[in-house]
Amino acid sequence: MEKERVLAPDELGEDNIQKSLRPKTFREYIGQEDLKKKMNIFIKAAKMRNETVDHILLYGPPGLGKTTLAGVIATEMGVNLKITTGPVLEKSGDLAAILTSLEENDILFIDEIHRLNTSVEEILYPAMEDNEIDILIGKGPSARSIRIELPKFTLIGATTKAGQLSTPLRDRFGVTHKMEFYKLEELEEIVRRGADILSISYDEDGISEISKRSRGTPRIANRLLKRARDYALVEGNGILDKKSVNGILKLLGVDETGLDELDRKILSSIIDVYNGGPVGIETLSLLLGEDKRTIEEVYEPYLIKIGFIKRTPRGRVVTEAGYRHLGIKKIIEK
Ligand SMILES: Nc1ncnc2c1ncn2[C@@H]1O[C@H](COP(=O)(O)OP(=O)(O)O)[C@@H](O)[C@H]1O
Ligand SMILES: [Mg+2]
Repeated sequence: MEKERVLAPDELGEDNIQKSLRPKTFREYIGQEDLKKKMNIFIKAAKMRNETVDHILLYGPPGLGKTTLAGVIATEMGVNLKITTGPVLEKSGDLAAILTSLEENDILFIDEIHRLNTSVEEILYPAMEDNEIDILIGKGPSARSIRIELPKFTLIGATTKAGQLSTPLRDRFGVTHKMEFYKLEELEEIVRRGADILSISYDEDGISEISKRSRGTPRIANRLLKRARDYALVEGNGILDKKSVNGILKLLGVDETGLDELDRKILSSIIDVYNGGPVGIETLSLLLGEDKRTIEEVYEPYLIKIGFIKRTPRGRVVTEAGYRHLGIKKIIEK
């Protein structure tokens, strides 16, 4: 049986619990102070001028609050939020249908915007710039293009990799923001808030233990919180404390640093097979039989952030701290 991946970053199967944990206003949105300050000013100014907020591009690893932020901005602006994702929009008509259904000042959120089809991307340009699109009606010689005026709207794009966005698309965003991993105190606040919402009894050690192992990521913090709650109920005294957190994380294969099996496999493979690297991402993905994107966009950012892996022009290298974490001594080749 394959082990459940607690680090799985996807939002698939978001249940009611997860929904209830999703902040709806800036007051509930914990951390990311600079971003909140910045957005608050933009929103106030837009409201005063009775205009839309500039198009916003958010990038960074999954689970850091991009979708949530789009919802918060919509709430604060008092407008509707429409959510779609890059790969779902197959034809330009799919996007045109969404754009023409927007109301004045609405927010359109496109997740995984780096995965848009070129033909779809091309109708996004005039939509973003001039609030209009040209669509082709009919086929062959009788085909003609008609121009459609769109309501003013704000596009919020989210991507795990800003580098994969085409330059013309990137240039059309007025605001670009890189989402950072959360600090320990912020995660503690998020976990405490979640425990309160879900009416879980806890002690501070339990909260801090979950936070330490959440890889700076609110989605993981919430997921671990739910698992720990079940464990405390069944195996413990119902209280979320250090013991129940340790118990469940051991079962889930999550270590003290928050690394899971695949993290450790990434490190140990580079060490065992390539003497610590450098090794290219393609090779690594083949070696592990794991999707390249998962390694690059989900796992690697945190391994880099905690200094276990370094990126060099020749590939990934495991650092001394990475070796130490696995308890392996580095053999220097002559
Ligand atoms: N700033 C935050 N404060 C509190 N909870 C947050 C925050 N950011 C994210 N979360 C929690 O993490 C979950 C995942 O966030 P989400 O916005 O879906 O991440 P992303 O879109 O970047 O992958 C949310 O459902 C929410 O419960
Ligand atoms: Mg999202």
